[in-house]
Amino acid sequence: MSITYKDEAGIAGMRTACRLASEVLDFLTPHIQPGVTTLEIDRLSADYMKQQGTRSATVGYQPPGYPPYPGHLCTSINHVVCHGIPNEKPLKKGDILNVDVTVITPDGWYGDNSRMFLIGGEAACSVQARRLNLVTFEAMWKGIVLVRPGVRLGDIGSAIQAHAEGNGFSVVREFCGHGIGQKFHEEPQVLHYGRPGTMEELKPGMTFTIEPMINAGKRDIKEQGDGWTIVTRDRSLSAQWEHTVLVTPTGYEVLTLSAGSPPPPAFVTTTAC
Ligand code: MF3
Ligand code: CO
Ligand code: CO
Repeated sequence: MSITYKDEAGIAGMRTACRLASEVLDFLTPHIQPGVTTLEIDRLSADYMKQQGTRSATVGYQPPGYPPYPGHLCTSINHVVCHGIPNEKPLKKGDILNVDVTVITPDGWYGDNSRMFLIGGEAACSVQARRLNLVTFEAMWKGIVLVRPGVRLGDIGSAIQAHAEGNGFSVVREFCGHGIGQKFHEEPQVLHYGRPGTMEELKPGMTFTIEPMINAGKRDIKEQGDGWTIVTRDRSLSAQWEHTVLVTPTGYEVLTLSAGSPPPPAFVTTTAC
């Protein structure tokens, strides 16, 4: 149970896994529309992973104290913070949906990423929902651009927290980003809040996710009773974006990119440095 530093072969394995995870989201994007159920999205993803030659990391996933997770991905709508289980309820115009995909390649590498979808398009969603989505996307990238050797995880958490709270939103504390490699969740924990100069120092070869969960209201959450679904306690909207990144000798490489990845915000000058 410690941080794993990836060598060239490991980095190649992670690049492939992460690109494939992102391509699952690309494939799903045109299907994510009003009237479609999240279970249909789940089935489509299962078929596509089969075509890719990957497996879902989430189906049957059972950390200590949890029931086995039933979905090939997570679908978290509106006030659902994370780990929403695909179900038969159709998506509606104005919903905001996070789809979180983690694949495993045949050689055992994991790629983990999630995106938000505004159901029915931007115009169908409330001003608050659009702003929450944008601020969460920016918050993820505010963290990513800091990644380089010598920086500490507290620097990253602090930047994410400052952006979220500076815009009047709150950061979920109970769930965090994580190291990833030939295991789904490795050390270190990547908190989305914190103080500069604290926590683990980044070193080349580390791969981890940055995946802030940001609430429009208070940060408090509760579990819904199925053992997995996490919702905001005040039922306010929640958004999340996730990338897997590599620490390079001079900066970072965002690994979960593909043709359909949304372009980064204007303050981001590069996706690999
Ligand atoms: N993909 C999620 C993460 O970013 C974890 C999902 S675990 C599941 O870490 F079991 F809920 F699928
Ligand atoms: Co993750
Ligand atoms: Co994820």
